[in-house]
Amino acid sequence: MIFKLVTIIGARPQFVKASAVSRALKSHLNLEEKILHTGQHFDSSMSNVFFSELEIPKPAYQLEVHSLPHGAMTGRMLEQIESVLQKEQPQLVLVYGDTNSTLAGALAASKLHIPLAHVEAGLRSFNMKMPEEVNRILTDRISTFLFCPTQNAIDNLKEEGFPFKDQEISNVGDVMVDTVRFFGNMAEEEPVIPYAVLTLHRQENTDNPDRLKSIVNAVNELSKEFKIKFPIHPRTRKALQNEGLRLSVEFIDPLGYRDMVSLVSGSKLVLTDSGGLQKEAYFLSKPCITLRDETEWIELVEEGANKVVGAETDRIVTTAKVDFGRKLYVNPSLYGDGKASERIVASIEKFLKA
Ligand code: UD1
Repeated sequence: MIFKLVTIIGARPQFVKASAVSRALKSHLNLEEKILHTGQHFDSSMSNVFFSELEIPKPAYQLEVHSLPHGAMTGRMLEQIESVLQKEQPQLVLVYGDTNSTLAGALAASKLHIPLAHVEAGLRSFNMKMPEEVNRILTDRISTFLFCPTQNAIDNLKEEGFPFKDQEISNVGDVMVDTVRFFGNMAEEEPVIPYAVLTLHRQENTDNPDRLKSIVNAVNELSKEFKIKFPIHPRTRKALQNEGLRLSVEFIDPLGYRDMVSLVSGSKLVLTDSGGLQKEAYFLSKPCITLRDETEWIELVEEGANKVVGAETDRIVTTAKVDFGRKLYVNPSLYGDGKASERIVASIEKFLKA
């Protein structure tokens, strides 16, 4: 008997995570995966490049829902995903992370009573103003399988009273370790000019002019000390233009996975508000400064690898000057052993065969 799974993805970090699970699924001939891409990220540099580089199967369904306010985006995705699921009748739906695509996929599956697996369950920032926090909490609540990347994620769920009826929670490790081990192995070359990497795209920073200005001031101050390379997200490009802000850094278009890994590998410091990049910096033993008021990845803070500094100019500048070039000890067991996706697929297979 062949079981059908539908994977719902749409934004850049999901492509990185889903590639690991797709690869593991391919070796199970009784599991057929169909990918639905919501279209949330649509620029070639934000989407196509990941499919080709990370060898993700071509989506069976390509929606075109993007560049809308949150409600409209999530609502249109929900409507269209529902009709795909009605047609496909899969035995399981897989969603990843915390984006609007995650929530729309989760809702569509749940309303059709299709078992739902959430990869990267249990993360919390404890900031309900973040769209991602709402998305992940709601998705966790309606998932059948909650595949957690860390013990902290498991603890968060227990604290909230999980598991609820018919839910199964497990710490499988982080699928991003699987991806970096498979694709990210590259020799690190000592760069001619030492540099830091900056990324910035969170709504809490880009859509708040005070925070954005304060971060821009910090980055401009730091650029007098060392070179900063900045692959810029489309959201941030628009926000800087709207506010008439100038950054004295090297702008780069959004990068594919391998180029990003190699950029971070060669760097002396990462400044970011991304979730995934905080971990990638750690996997590549680079100190990270998080331009947010909280992080979901608290084990990195406990390890002393990541410093959460918010958006205040002086704090960013002082911390970045100290951390530039700092050597890190990487605890290899923090995020699992690189076999998270195999564990996920084994659980799914056991459930479907039962
Ligand atoms: C989304 C996720 C966020 C994730 C991030 C990764 C939600 C709520 N947020 O944020 O959790 O960390 O993806 O990048 O789902 N745009 C383009 N081209 C693209 C993609 C986006 O121009 O390929 C523009 C959109 O038109 C929009 C803006 O960028 O104006 C923001 O895109 P959106 O998908 O709403 O959110 P992200 O900031 O990417």
